[in-house]
Parts: sequence; structure tokens; C-alpha cells
Amino acid sequence: MPGASLELIQHMSYKILDPKDFADSFDDRHAFALDVLVGLSDTVKTLPSKYLYDTRGSELYTEITNLPEYYPTDCGRAILQTNAAKISAMMKQAPFNLVELGAGTGVKTKILLEEFHKQELEFQYVPIDISEGAMKELVADIGSSFPQLEINGLISDYFNGLKWLHNRGQRKNYVMFLGSSIGNFTNSEAKFFLRNGWTCLNDGDCVLIGFDLKKDIEMLLWAYNDTQGVTAEFNLNLLRRINAELGGQFILKNFRHYGTYNVLNGAMESYLVSVKDQEVYVGMISRSFSFCEWEPIRTEYSYKYLLSDILGLAADTGFVVEDTLFDSQRYFADSIWRVRKPGK
Ligand code: AVJ
Repeated sequence: MPGASLELIQHMSYKILDPKDFADSFDDRHAFALDVLVGLSDTVKTLPSKYLYDTRGSELYTEITNLPEYYPTDCGRAILQTNAAKISAMMKQAPFNLVELGAGTGVKTKILLEEFHKQELEFQYVPIDISEGAMKELVADIGSSFPQLEINGLISDYFNGLKWLHNRGQRKNYVMFLGSSIGNFTNSEAKFFLRNGWTCLNDGDCVLIGFDLKKDIEMLLWAYNDTQGVTAEFNLNLLRRINAELGGQFILKNFRHYGTYNVLNGAMESYLVSVKDQEVYVGMISRSFSFCEWEPIRTEYSYKYLLSDILGLAADTGFVVEDTLFDSQRYFADSIWRVRKPGK
């Protein structure tokens, strides 16, 4: 009966929510709580290394980069200083976006910005970082050093940052992934990450990626177990963050930092080892986690590469290697790749 169905429709009340109506309801803290729950429930306990970088963690990492043992800082800087003119010469298609993933304090970026400035290149600087504190400082600092520069900072993880870039017009993108943040990914995660980047970028766009190279194991152990204990603080800060943001009850002195090199997978691995049998309650998850004496939580992988690994990774993810730059001791490499999209 047509009349009846009309009445039905009139009495039905429904609403389709727009994503922006509930954008705030699942905040970052819920994602953090879920990751902690999953990681600490595993047989081998783990916590994702991305959570090391809250405002305090980013400060501690900056301290690490100033340690005499932490060789990647000087190597990375030397490579950029030696090659700034060469890199600048590659950026012919102005105006372009200079995108930087995990910009941190931007000390190394400034080397490039100065050179681009000297060459009067026209570009927009787009730093992407998950730490709001670090981003605010970076934008203020770079903005005062380069008052003419157009800066658009994104507080975001790498994946969403790159997705945002997609469809932002046809400007050429040059993506910097300095440091050796890629080292935090396993091989398959690195491929996922790079292919995601490839998808978001256009044919001919370039990426510059820093890779820490395989080297004398003693050097690696020094760099990740500094004598001042800054790396230990950096690692333990993850538990402090769980306490602060998720109502955790970790007693920091009941865990110790342990950094070791795994010769089988080629990674420096960081652990927080429980020094005693203990139960730790996390309020936001409403449960306790038990730790046996000497049980570890793995908090970080920092994979070290061979040149052949770098070339293989590029080939596997659709990039053409343009050049690979090394420091004089060959401790570190910045590899420059071009996005290659077949049929274009
Ligand atoms: C920020 C990932 C490049 O792996 O060397 C430093 C982090 N951890 N010391 C690295 C880190 C311990 C760092 N990255």
C-alpha cells in the first residue's frame, strides 16, 4: 500500500555522520592505549618506537644527537655540507615543495635551506613531524632564520602527512627523510612506507633518504649506550609517557635500558629490561601487566644497511637511484631516488 510506506518513511529518523563530526572522539591517546595493550600483551613484549617522540622524548633525542658517541649527526651534516650545491642543482623545477619527514630541530635542513636561498630557488617548506612541541619550535626557528620562506608545518605521522601532500597540485615534491629514521622500520615496513610514499608522489618527484650503514659493532654499541645515560633516559621516557598519558604506574628505576646489536638482522635493538618480578597497572587500559625478573620490552629497532640493501629497496619499491652520497668514513649515506611511474 503506497500510503503506508510513505508514513513509514516520514516516521523514520536517521542521521549520517560526517567524518568531521566524530574526528575528535577517537584521539591519539586511544590509539596509544591500544598499541600499549597489544604490545605488552605479546609473548615478547614490545612498544612501538614512534611513541618515544613526545615533547620530552624529542628533546632527549636532540641531546643524543649532540653526544660525542652518536656519530650519525656529524656524518649526516658532513654529507649535506659537502653536497649542498650538488643537491641544489638537482632542484631545477621551481617552484617546488621541500617536504621534510620527521624534521626534528631542522639543524641539518638549515644547511640545505641556506644553499637553496643562495641559489634563489623558489619553494615552499613543508616539515612533517608527530611532535607538536618540536614542530612549533622548528617553525618558529626556521621562520626567524628565513623570514621570506613560506612554511607549512604538518603535525602528523609520515603516512598521513604524505597522503595530505597527494592532490596538492602539480608542484614538484622533494622529500627529505634525513637522519636514519628509516632504520626504525623492518624491511617489510620500509617497503610499505616507501611504496606508500611512491603512491602519494608524482612521476619524477625525488626523495633523499638517510641510511646508517653497517660498521664496526663496537662503534654501534657506544653510540646507543652513551656514558652519560642520555639514551637510557630517552628509552625510559616511554614508560614515563605511559604514566603521564595513560595513567600507568611504571616505576622507572625498576627497568633498565639495554642496547645491543643483533648480527642476524643487522639492527641495533633497544630494550627496557625489568630488574625484578613486578605487576604494573595502566589505568586507561584497566589492567595490569606482569613482568618477570629480567624480562625485556623491545622498544626500538635501528637497522643498519649495506649499499646493496639500499639499491635493492629502491628497485623493489619503484624508485630509480640517482645518486648515493657518503661521508668520508662511509659510516652513513644519503641516497637520492626518483619516483618512476611506468607509462608516464
Ligand atoms: C631517530 C631513529 C635516527 O635509530 O639512531 C638514537 C633514534 N635511538 N639513539 C637512531 C635513536 C637511540 C635514532 N633515529
